[in-house]
Amino acid sequence: MAKKSQATWGGRFSKGPAELMLTFSESVSFDKRLAPFDIAVNRAHTAMLHHVGLLSRRELQAIHKGLAVVEKQIEDGKLKWNEAFEDVHMNIEQALTKIAPEAAKMHTARSRNDQVATDSRLFFKFACDSIVALLENLQRAILKVAEANQSVSIPGYTHLQRAQPVSVAHHLLAYVEMFSRDITRFKRLHDDANWCPLGSGAIAGTTLPIDREFTAKELGFVDSKGKPRVTTNSMDAVADRDLFLDFAHACAVCATHFSRVSEDIILWNSTEFGYVELPDAFCTGSSLMPQKKNPDSLELLRGKSGRIIGSLQALYAMVKGLPLTYNRDLQEDKVQVFDSFDQIELCLQVLEGTIAGMQFKKGRCQEAVADPGLLATDLADWLVNEGVAFRDAHHVVGAMVARAETLKIPLDQVPLDDAKSIHPKLAGNWRSVFDLDRAFRAREGIGMPGPKQIKKQLNRWSKVYGS
Ligand code: ARG
Repeated sequence: MAKKSQATWGGRFSKGPAELMLTFSESVSFDKRLAPFDIAVNRAHTAMLHHVGLLSRRELQAIHKGLAVVEKQIEDGKLKWNEAFEDVHMNIEQALTKIAPEAAKMHTARSRNDQVATDSRLFFKFACDSIVALLENLQRAILKVAEANQSVSIPGYTHLQRAQPVSVAHHLLAYVEMFSRDITRFKRLHDDANWCPLGSGAIAGTTLPIDREFTAKELGFVDSKGKPRVTTNSMDAVADRDLFLDFAHACAVCATHFSRVSEDIILWNSTEFGYVELPDAFCTGSSLMPQKKNPDSLELLRGKSGRIIGSLQALYAMVKGLPLTYNRDLQEDKVQVFDSFDQIELCLQVLEGTIAGMQFKKGRCQEAVADPGLLATDLADWLVNEGVAFRDAHHVVGAMVARAETLKIPLDQVPLDDAKSIHPKLAGNWRSVFDLDRAFRAREGIGMPGPKQIKKQLNRWSKVYGS
């Protein structure tokens, strides 16, 4: 029998790896979180081995009993993870073999390559479910603040310049739209993950008579009708890291969303805007300046988005030059997706808490939205209704704005004679345009900030998220 310099693959080696190599190559320090999925895979795989006659009933029972013990040890934090066994798969196998020597047959007809691909797919299904649940909580929190502030309006901005009035609810509903796309993205990813690669072996399957559909079914890799879903090319199945890229991408888009939301709220919270008061629970003070209350939760959300986007770049750089199929480089894939997942989970909860506790300062909002310049476009539309071509109307209102600036008065106060001299149609009741309620009432088309439209959208989303 060959010398066992390394417990699982040492047969062809005469010496074990250097200490440094062990530390360098281990992944158990970070992939041990795959343990629940790895145990599920071990259960399903051995059940299949028994089903096809490669394990006796007694052997299967011994292995399943042992797996339950190892599972409990892991849950209780009692299993000693050993870096000499490299990864979560070999640590579990070693621990199990000590309890049940029958587990020496467990790795029959599989490789860690298809094993880690299967564990990862189970992880992605789990991760997508938890992110979707957190996104739904966030949506409910945003909807609640939107509902409570339906009567509050603020300037909407383009180029960070005051553009047109919007209701706070309309602005917040834009966030609901963004995060609902994230929800769709993570649900789609869940479906993409739902294919079982087990049975692909190291690269070219196995000569043993396995039943891949049996294992797929056991692990819940089934379609809506319960039909098993198995991957269809063994080389692709062990080399494929698309899900890692897709997951990191979905996280990066979601992070981009919450970073932009954070930036809006940071601005609104500044003394210069003063539209909102943030909850103390999600702010911190300055070690030097006693008056400071800083929006740190939002700044960290903005900052962490960089880290999450970085994970996607790291994965692309890692995968792009790899020949088919498995290469050890791929072990690093988990570092990135675990970090993205952990950060997204934290971020979504922090954003939810910050938004839920945010108060709009109605007086300041009212003051800002009373700027008649916000209705300059409405004045151009008024002229269009009077038969003026829009290009001309735009020019005319531009001249009105310039006149107001010269006279140092608000746009709606330009004297009638000046207005008439700019365009004869401005002899009419153009000042009626400068009424916010009128401006909102005039915007009842789908997707616009008219009050009826907002109510409709709020109702629609409340039904989706059950708030
Ligand atoms: N820890 C490894 C990883 O995460 C498992 C697969 C190892 N396969 C191998 N042939 N060394 O990628």
